[in-house]
Amino acid sequence: MISKAVVNRDQPDIQSCFDYFLRHVPPYYCGDCVTHEFLDLPQLISAAGTVRLPGSKSISNRVLLLAALADGETEVRDLLASDDTERMLNALKTLGVGVSHLGGESWAIKGCGGNFPVRRAELFLGNAGTAFRPLTAALALAGGDYVLKGVARMHERPIGDLVDGLRQLGADVTYLGNDGYPPLHLKPATIRPGGVVKVRGDVSSQFLTGLLMALPLTGEAETVEVVGELISKPYIEITLAIMARFGVLVQREGWQRFTVPAGSRYVSPGTIYVEGDASSASYFLALGAIGGGPVRVEGVGSESIQGDVKFAEALAQMGAIIETGPNWMSARAPQGGLVAVDLDCNHIPDAAMTLATTALFARGTTTLRNIASWRVKETDRIAAMATELRKLGALVEEGGDFIRVTPASLKPAAIDTYDDHRMAMCFSLAAFGTPLRINDPKCVAKTFPDYFERFAGVTKAAPVIAIDGPSASGKGTVAARVAAALGYGYLDSGALYRLTALAARQVNIDWADEAAVAALAAALDVEFSESEIRLNGQPVGDAIRTEKISAGASKVAALPAVREALLFRQRAFNRLPGLIGDGRDMGSVVFPRAVLKVFLTASAEARAERRYKQLIEKGLSANLADLLQDLQQRDERDSQRSVAPLRQEEDAKLLDTTGLTIEQAVTQVLAWSKEVSL
Ligand code: DC
Repeated sequence: MISKAVVNRDQPDIQSCFDYFLRHVPPYYCGDCVTHEFLDLPQLISAAGTVRLPGSKSISNRVLLLAALADGETEVRDLLASDDTERMLNALKTLGVGVSHLGGESWAIKGCGGNFPVRRAELFLGNAGTAFRPLTAALALAGGDYVLKGVARMHERPIGDLVDGLRQLGADVTYLGNDGYPPLHLKPATIRPGGVVKVRGDVSSQFLTGLLMALPLTGEAETVEVVGELISKPYIEITLAIMARFGVLVQREGWQRFTVPAGSRYVSPGTIYVEGDASSASYFLALGAIGGGPVRVEGVGSESIQGDVKFAEALAQMGAIIETGPNWMSARAPQGGLVAVDLDCNHIPDAAMTLATTALFARGTTTLRNIASWRVKETDRIAAMATELRKLGALVEEGGDFIRVTPASLKPAAIDTYDDHRMAMCFSLAAFGTPLRINDPKCVAKTFPDYFERFAGVTKAAPVIAIDGPSASGKGTVAARVAAALGYGYLDSGALYRLTALAARQVNIDWADEAAVAALAAALDVEFSESEIRLNGQPVGDAIRTEKISAGASKVAALPAVREALLFRQRAFNRLPGLIGDGRDMGSVVFPRAVLKVFLTASAEARAERRYKQLIEKGLSANLADLLQDLQQRDERDSQRSVAPLRQEEDAKLLDTTGLTIEQAVTQVLAWSKEVSL
């Protein structure tokens, strides 16, 4: 089934976002969609497993259109459930084509033999190029009064070359916005069949695809001549192969001339299976090549009609070990790691994007050439790729039709996805180098709604042990020692709230001023090292441990916007080889997927006494009764606040240290850690 989130993407509503995350994202850390939409990926350790691919987008939409244009009913199996196919299905329904869902990925399409029952309609096609271009051609030649529209980005994607081709046949097409771009108005016209149509092939191969698929509607012999070098040729192969399945055999002379014979008619093949999506396969093959593998994809293989299977060859050039069967492929990492390539990617324009992020893990500088078509896709993909790779610290050079990537040690960043499914999927690979945030991850619904679910199914993340508990329970000391024993990193999350309180105080911001404190927290310039914490370049020492700042920390920690501002900063600690996180909401909010959750506590009296001893040892004055009262007040505030209150998670193990030494507590946590898979 196509999820509700998919259907509602143009008017996002909160419930649909929520459904989406619930269904597809739980394995890693999703954002609360009421205030934000993102997915935080921990650093990955390895990848291995098998993925059954969703149906190919290119094949799905071509099959749907030809089934609609054919004589007879077609049962389409393994159709991709995604935004773009949803657009095509809806358009066909609007045009009066009989479309019925048979359950799962199977659909029945009642062909109309080239005569759409509805002759006047307005179609909204989102950002689906594979629906917009071929429907424009088919409707212009079928005759009728149609308006074709899309999202704003669709209106920036050129279509002039296709319209010029259709006008040569007599079609009446008007631009409703800018010349050369959608939206379009198609009106009934007298088609002059039997000639030679010239169409440019160097901007998008979808123009040629659209024309070829529509030409049998004239009933006469039609020849198309490609002007300029045809790009993305493998997509034309797909078009010709599917037309052949529906009974139309196009004669071609090289890549220059294509002739649809007179009397060609589409006839239903009965049942047709959609291959798995070869572009979608690229992410999983890359995961195997970077993360050890083997990762096996099922649904495409050596017998595929999709050009993007050639991605596997590109990956092999980078050193990956590739195996293929008729209907599957697998990738493993080579012994010495991947190496950079210098590649003409014209034949794999979509899958080549995956090489750009794979390049982050290859020795040397990778150059991807002949990719000018990236600039007119869902977004300007060269610019978007360069901008986002740089955020991670990579060195990037971009040109009109190339991109050059040199890896570097990666740093956490929030990646924007430009409403482009491939941006979101490509950048998930970067998690092998750093934890990162992917903004608007549900844009993957365009072609692969449950991508992140599958991604999580074959990847292993750096483990987290969450230790939560009240103030002065000893969890800081225990956490730091467990981290040292395991060789893991250590996150003292309380220090971030303390630093925020201190920073606010330094610039006279009231601890109750939520917006101002949150802004400060978001921009906090802090550095953690083994020996010290620095704020704005200055060591803070014990300045964040005073009773005043403790109270301030507890106050700012109750502000939702402050917690949100510090969320990614905390998750960015989720690196190799693993992390011990200490705080109040490590197991509940920050690392809900922690492999081990410990709730470490002690009686208020025992904690007040420990704190008292610490202060006296440091030569500071202290009063036990006051300390106990302060602690109880802070406990109350930390556990009663509305956001991320301190509480023992259901899946957390309770460790009461009232009668235990530090060593005993550490030993217990280490014993528990041996019981889980780290
Ligand atoms: O652990 P600590 O005493 O250093 O924490 C200081 C304050 O920050 C404390 O009042 C609770 C708050 N805090 C929080 O709300 N969530 C965390 N994960 C860690 C600390």
